[in-house]
Amino acid sequence: MCGIIGYIGKGEAFPVLVSGLNKLEYRGYDSAGIAVNVDADADADANEDELNLQKYVGKLSEIKFEAVDGSIGIAHTRWASHGKVTKENAHPHLDCRNEIAVVHNGIIENYKELKERLIDKGHSFRSETDSETIAHLIEDFVSDGFSFDDAFVNALRMLEGCYTVLAVRKGENRIAGARKGSRSLCIGLSEGTEGPGLFPSSDVLAFLEWADKVIYLKSGDVFFADTDLNLKIYNLIEDRIVERPIDTVKCDAEEVKKGEYEHFMLKEISEQDETLLRALQQDKNTVTEICEEMRRAVGTFFIGCGSSYHACLAGSYLFSEIAKVHVNTALASEFENYEDFLTENTLVLAISQSGETADVLDAVNAAKRKGSRVVGMVNRDGSILTRDCDQLLMMNSGPEFCVLSTKTYTSQVVLMAMLAYAYAGRCEEGLEKIRSLYLDIYNLTSRTVREHVHELAEMLYKRKNIYLIGRGLQYTTALEAALKIKEVSYIHAEAFAGGELKHGSLALIEDGTPCIVFVSSNNRSKILSNAEEVKSRGGYIIGVSSEREEVFDFWVKVPDAGELNPIIQIIPMQVLAYELALLRGLDPDKPRNLAKCVTIT
Ligand code: F6R
Repeated sequence: MCGIIGYIGKGEAFPVLVSGLNKLEYRGYDSAGIAVNVDADADADANEDELNLQKYVGKLSEIKFEAVDGSIGIAHTRWASHGKVTKENAHPHLDCRNEIAVVHNGIIENYKELKERLIDKGHSFRSETDSETIAHLIEDFVSDGFSFDDAFVNALRMLEGCYTVLAVRKGENRIAGARKGSRSLCIGLSEGTEGPGLFPSSDVLAFLEWADKVIYLKSGDVFFADTDLNLKIYNLIEDRIVERPIDTVKCDAEEVKKGEYEHFMLKEISEQDETLLRALQQDKNTVTEICEEMRRAVGTFFIGCGSSYHACLAGSYLFSEIAKVHVNTALASEFENYEDFLTENTLVLAISQSGETADVLDAVNAAKRKGSRVVGMVNRDGSILTRDCDQLLMMNSGPEFCVLSTKTYTSQVVLMAMLAYAYAGRCEEGLEKIRSLYLDIYNLTSRTVREHVHELAEMLYKRKNIYLIGRGLQYTTALEAALKIKEVSYIHAEAFAGGELKHGSLALIEDGTPCIVFVSSNNRSKILSNAEEVKSRGGYIIGVSSEREEVFDFWVKVPDAGELNPIIQIIPMQVLAYELALLRGLDPDKPRNLAKCVTIT
């Protein structure tokens, strides 16, 4: 759950590393570090070759790296998994002689055993991480007389688990790197005059402003690059030199800026009118083929995690309502419990913004082992899921920097609705209906709505609990809204299907307990009677609906969009979560204990 960037070429590594780390902060942000190879021949201030290492604990905005000259460097932003948040545990990690520096994302499953063996051979470790083992393993092979490249490959062969790793060695004109399993690694290529170079990274976002070409490495790929931009890629599994295609980077550098907005979260919430339209930009044949696959399949599963799972759930209700067909939904992290039912005739639709959530990738691999067809619904271009599935629908939302998903959630629901309409043979009508939400969404992200929601946030930000209820599609919105509130404001928020309250949870309602109620015209009377149940026990009712109802103490007005309600009712709730975070003095873009891309299972 970390971000990695490296640079090797004719320019300076330092600015690339610092800028790249800032772009990668969304992946993890409790500590960061850089290692730059200082070449005594090129740097007049250096008496001898040196490996300049700088590591800090804290957010990147608080870290001040000291500028250093050198055209080879690696950097890492960490979100702790093995070992506490300390300077020692931050990357890069060094070998005993401070000559080899390594950055790593992933999990080395057999690190304890390797570490014990290395300690027995006299190596001393400074950190509690699994990652440091890699630096000592390389050192061990170098001491045995292997070249840096061979030592790197030999070390990789001893690792069990999955990884993205980059390594440099003092005095060596090289970066070595590799990826295995569910960790991504790509290499940006720039021929620009300022500093032509190669930019190995976990994400294209890290080098967008420098490179416009990219190579995506496959699992098992190892690369070696030098300052003359020679690049060699070798695949460990196939045991041969391989060629990987060079793609054009499909991302606009402007999209990675906050612009007029104070936070990415607000920017991304505000972009949803546009992202709605962008999600609809799909190849008709692909949509038709996916519907055909669903028709042929004996059983379809929608799978995902967190918000993406809520989109799966919304999708299953949409398919019931619009296409009159049943689909199964499963949390990707629970999918192993369904594996016995997968066959060659099963279709799995995996939803993931990042395309790199480990639970999703594991579930997809399990489905593929059973011969099932896999369709991916992904936002991040070039991510592992985009390459691992049989069919692909891209969300086209542009990069999402805030750790919370907002615009990608609505895009996922848009795509689900689009598929359901297409399945029902009502494609054009569906597209028109979805498109017509554009103005409503624009209005829901306006200053007026934000001010109104701010009033609500003022009333709620000191509360310990908030409850949310809805029925049918509105239940999925309640779940998603509760997740948004929890993640960013740290207030306990819990969603219930309206009809379930009477089965126990009404016990939680006391005088003044806030309860947000999502109303739709098609189940208005039932949900309003659930709201009455809460109100009669002292609850404070916040209605999200097109009409003001008597039971409401506070009203958030949203147009009634029928089956498309989940696309618009969530928007004021995203704004509410944002406002709650601000009022509680929290940074909405970087909530605690969360990472944008969850690469551990
Ligand atoms: C919620 C959130 C997470 C993600 C989940 C899945 O705001 O961001 O719950 O939805 O980690 O991530 P992806 O969609 O990248 O697989």
